[in-house]
Amino acid sequence: MFSTKELRAVVSWLTAPMIRQAVDEDAAGLLAYFQALAADEVNNTGIRSDIFQQTVEEQGALIRRYAHAPNSRLFVLDADGKIAGLVKMTGSGSPKTSHTVDLSLNVHPDYRGAGFGSALLRHALTWAYNQESIRRVELDVLTRNEGALRLYQRFGFQVEGRRRKAYYLFDESDDAYVDVYVMAALL
Ligand SMILES: CC(C)(COP(=O)(O)OP(=O)(O)OC[C@H]1O[C@@H](n2cnc3c(N)ncnc32)[C@H](O)[C@@H]1OP(=O)(O)O)[C@@H](O)C(=O)NCCC(=O)NCCS
Repeated sequence: MFSTKELRAVVSWLTAPMIRQAVDEDAAGLLAYFQALAADEVNNTGIRSDIFQQTVEEQGALIRRYAHAPNSRLFVLDADGKIAGLVKMTGSGSPKTSHTVDLSLNVHPDYRGAGFGSALLRHALTWAYNQESIRRVELDVLTRNEGALRLYQRFGFQVEGRRRKAYYLFDESDDAYVDVYVMAALL
């Protein structure tokens, strides 16, 4: 016989958010997810509303590309049956940089501050660490994005430089060109 506490633990384990590789069936969910990111009040992702012009088929093709490309992965965090976050790692085709992957991470605005970003980053870095060929994970982060900067530093990323006015943010009314830090972690 289970105690109430044990039953609660089983229920929360069964309903816990799950991180898994994106599959074809996620295409429509991913489009809705990007729509929510693009509508974010403070948009630190650079994801623009013109992404909506992508079709479910195009999104499916992207998912398949990530599933099959060497050193690339698209992981989603599934909460309440909907996509609540993703981490994407993009490998390079060139032998010179094939040990490096480019990482991008984001969480649905309704689910931030609940540990999902940390869980996704941990998952991605564990996967990368277990790939013999990957030795470096790099990313760009807006210099104004202090929360994300702190998160990456906690996971061992270091700032390697600043790219001035490197991004153009579509939805900004003025000073649309913004600086980014280049960060990387060596595995
Ligand atoms: C940055 C982001 C991925 C973190 O995901 P999260 O699930 O909110 O993160 P966690 O709950 O695991 O918290 C980790 C850190 O994220 C930051 N964070 C938490 N809530 C946040 C929010 N609502 N907005 C921005 N950053 C937040 C904090 O630095 C937090 O660390 P702290 O508790 O020491 O301050 C997420 O907030 C997000 O998608 N923001 C918008 C897109 C973005 O900035 N992506 C990174 C681009 S490089």
